[in-house]
Amino acid sequence: MKSPLQIGLFGFGTVGQGLYDVLRRTPGLQSEIKRICVKDHTKQRPIDASAFTYSASDIIEDPDVDVVVELIDDADAAYEIVRASMKYGKAVVTANKRMVSTRLPELLELQRQTGCPLLYEASTCGSIPIIRNLEEYYDNDLLSGITGIVNGTTNFILTHLTRRGADGGYESALREAAARGFAESDPTLDVEAYDAAFKTVILTAHAFGAIIDVNSVVRRGITAIAPFDVRVAASMGSVVKLLSRVVIRDGGVSAVAIPTFVPEGNALASISHEVNGVRLDAAFSEAQLMVGKGAGGGPTASAVLSDISALRYGYRYEYRKLKGSEVPTLNNHVDVVAYVRGARSIIEAIPWKQRRIDVRSTDGDYIIGTVELSSLRESTAFDDAETFVALVLED
Ligand code: HSE
Repeated sequence: MKSPLQIGLFGFGTVGQGLYDVLRRTPGLQSEIKRICVKDHTKQRPIDASAFTYSASDIIEDPDVDVVVELIDDADAAYEIVRASMKYGKAVVTANKRMVSTRLPELLELQRQTGCPLLYEASTCGSIPIIRNLEEYYDNDLLSGITGIVNGTTNFILTHLTRRGADGGYESALREAAARGFAESDPTLDVEAYDAAFKTVILTAHAFGAIIDVNSVVRRGITAIAPFDVRVAASMGSVVKLLSRVVIRDGGVSAVAIPTFVPEGNALASISHEVNGVRLDAAFSEAQLMVGKGAGGGPTASAVLSDISALRYGYRYEYRKLKGSEVPTLNNHVDVVAYVRGARSIIEAIPWKQRRIDVRSTDGDYIIGTVELSSLRESTAFDDAETFVALVLED
């Protein structure tokens, strides 16, 4: 690739502007944005109008553009941009976790057909170089689990709830996360754990070589949380975190994106605000933790930039684990320890295998016990908007 590298950028939101700023402030990177494609003609933008185009082909069909960087919101439109760019022979960098997680088989086929690389480090855990590490360093069969805080917005909200313990902290923390550019433009994706589920799918593919459907991730958001739940967790010496967790058991893999009581002594418990953290459990290295900012313009742009730099030396994902002979299949028929607070009839109806604690109080009734993950998911409690469901981390 030539120097300076010419980038065609799609999208000029938080991450797009972050990338623009980082490149402008560090000329030594030898990369420049040639054109930026945006949708809205009427929007006021902080840089000169001549930098923008409204036609995708101005970038995709420009022979001078070496790399297409796709940073738009809409996953379907993003896929069309990525597909057209690769068919045109361009290397592509994207941060779009929804697109990557829901279209992985098609994206693999596109890479095979076109020979063009597609990198997406920024899609998962912002600035933490998790995908490249899973691809290169953990390129063996010894990983047994990944447990992480992968959504900055919910970690920001939960940090506020834990520290303030006040009613009403939820809404103001969400507003602040949105104002600071951490939240999705539709924050339902954050608080209902869709975003964490997308990232769980990507982690599962690169950690274990298994492509799982995003709907098979056992997903539960944080919207039903009450200060009471935070207090119960504290009384058990834990804090509530939204965890993404993929664990190998009996040759299968279970996958969740769900609020979890994390013991205060666990390193993940002290990861706060928009910071993300991923714990990797492996047979010989044992537990390792990677921590870094998971959302926001600068941190996410740094991952995009790292992908752009990696393209210079011909880096591409090899997906060796996907081609392996012992790819695990999804198995959510595993026992978990759960905390469920809600109406008595609803929490009683869960097919508990063993109840450890059963509390009736004026602030709320809850049960903590062992239950099969798939049964918990199928229970009425799991979909009830008033019931708070969390797992209890015990390792
Ligand atoms: N909304 C996402 C988050 C942005 O809060 O983590 C980064 O993927």
